[in-house]
Amino acid sequence: MADFDVIVIGGGPGGYVCAIRCAQLGLKTAVVEGRETLGGTCLNVGCIPSKALLHATHELHEAEHNFAKMGLKGKAPSVDWDQMKAYKQEVVDGNTKGIEFLFKKNKITWLKGWGSIPAAGQVKVGEEVHNAKNIVIASGSVPSSLPGIEIDEETVVSSTGALALKKIPKSLVVIGAGVIGLEMGSVYARLGAKVTVVEFLDVITPTMDGEVSKQFQKILAKQGMDFVLGAAVQSVETKNGKAKVTYKLRKDNSEVTIDADTVLVATGRKPYTDGLGLADIGVEMEQRGQIKTDAHWQTSVKGIYAIGDAIVGPMLAHKAEDEGMAVAEVLAGKHGHVNYGVIPGVIYTTPEVASVGKTEEELKKDGVKYKVGKFPFMGNARAKAVFQAEGFAKLIVDENDRILGAHIIGPGAGDLIHEVCVAMEFGASAEDLALTCHAHPTFSEAVREAALACGDGAIHA
Ligand code: FAD
Ligand code: NAI
Repeated sequence: MADFDVIVIGGGPGGYVCAIRCAQLGLKTAVVEGRETLGGTCLNVGCIPSKALLHATHELHEAEHNFAKMGLKGKAPSVDWDQMKAYKQEVVDGNTKGIEFLFKKNKITWLKGWGSIPAAGQVKVGEEVHNAKNIVIASGSVPSSLPGIEIDEETVVSSTGALALKKIPKSLVVIGAGVIGLEMGSVYARLGAKVTVVEFLDVITPTMDGEVSKQFQKILAKQGMDFVLGAAVQSVETKNGKAKVTYKLRKDNSEVTIDADTVLVATGRKPYTDGLGLADIGVEMEQRGQIKTDAHWQTSVKGIYAIGDAIVGPMLAHKAEDEGMAVAEVLAGKHGHVNYGVIPGVIYTTPEVASVGKTEEELKKDGVKYKVGKFPFMGNARAKAVFQAEGFAKLIVDENDRILGAHIIGPGAGDLIHEVCVAMEFGASAEDLALTCHAHPTFSEAVREAALACGDGAIHA
């Protein structure tokens, strides 16, 4: 008899959610996790600590820039960086302990250590081999660097080092204007660092809706961040704890060198499958290092499944979680499903940026006819009251008014996007959203107005 019905390798959002659902569905479940704490990248060195720092520094920004306008006079708070990091760690610890509690509650065994798969149906942790009817790999991802650039996590850091710098740098160069670069860049810009973002392409957040990225760049520049676009970083040299970053501008091949106290390399992440022994047991991989799976997350080896950042798709915690739940359902003989067309993406800067579904650029490329309804937060009373009226909500619909995508830059965008996600799951039209009563005054009225703009017109524009 197998020791377990399911052994999950990796205790991140993909792995722990999968394990909880497996246990809820009556499967005897274990999770192998090599870190000291559960929760994976997301809870330990990703989503959660970064959001804690974004929250703390947003509050600081409000105190410095907006309090006096509201009649809240007096000196803005000074920054105790060690205390801010302690607060961040407390938030992380509370969350990782929460997962441990959920494991106990659901009778999930935590096999502590690094796991490998000697054969289908077997997981080795330390010297012990455990048998399982099915194995789910949820081993996640790690930061990828650039050739010739060495990350020492002190002067040249990945996101992990950027969450725990010894002191606030006077100058920070961020390589890569993606999600990590802009979120962590915002944190340090608000803490007073001179932040310069160097991006290879000619736009920031290149996969996002073009109009949103342009507006986003404008807003971040106003907040003090500098952008160097179309620039290929050539080298990063370090000496006595300082760095020199040399980049070449693609438009004229000119080379520029800038100084920095700290350099954050944020040029993407790569799947992590080291030490699992996948090649030896014949698990097929994709060209870019992800584990290859079929439509039910099974790898090329029967009984071995894979989910989350280790497989193809957006590297997002909620995508990993959804796959975790779905694969658990499959293993319990049910019908697990993930709708990859409706996975929201959120950047937690101020303002927030959120999107779901198709962008105009994608639809143009695919030759799909569409219509856009757009509403500026300038016409939203609540956004004006909180000094965040610079963005907009944009809905894209097809010829029959069915919603194909939404792109929002503005206050609470990360929450607003979900009413569009639900609408899309139900195959709703923009008119359905427009006919839904939205409470006043809320930010969500901007989404309704964008929906009205897809029809006879927005009211407050
Ligand atoms: P992971 O969270 O990477 O977990 C994998 C776990 O497996 C790790 O704990 C690892 O130790 C363990 N492991 C690996 N191999 C083995 C082995 N052989 N044996 C035992 N254990 C093993 N996503 C969002 O959706 N929202 C955000 O706001 C967000 N913010 C982020 C901020 C930062 C700075 C970073 C770096 C990432 C952020 N992400 C965010 C991405 C998110 O963290 C990942 O998409 C998510 O963690 C992926 O989950 P996962 O379970 O696939 O893998
Ligand atoms: P990313 O893929 O978002 O952005 C990388 C950026 O670096 C791109 O703009 C790319 O064009 C640029 N780049 C690549 N090579 C370069 C080079 N040589 N020189 C200059 N620029 C270069 O990757 P990022 O920001 O590292 O994040 C990794 C993953 O983590 C993302 O896939 C994201 O999904 C996830 N994440 C999600 C968050 C969220 O949901 N809020 C927050 C942070 C991370």
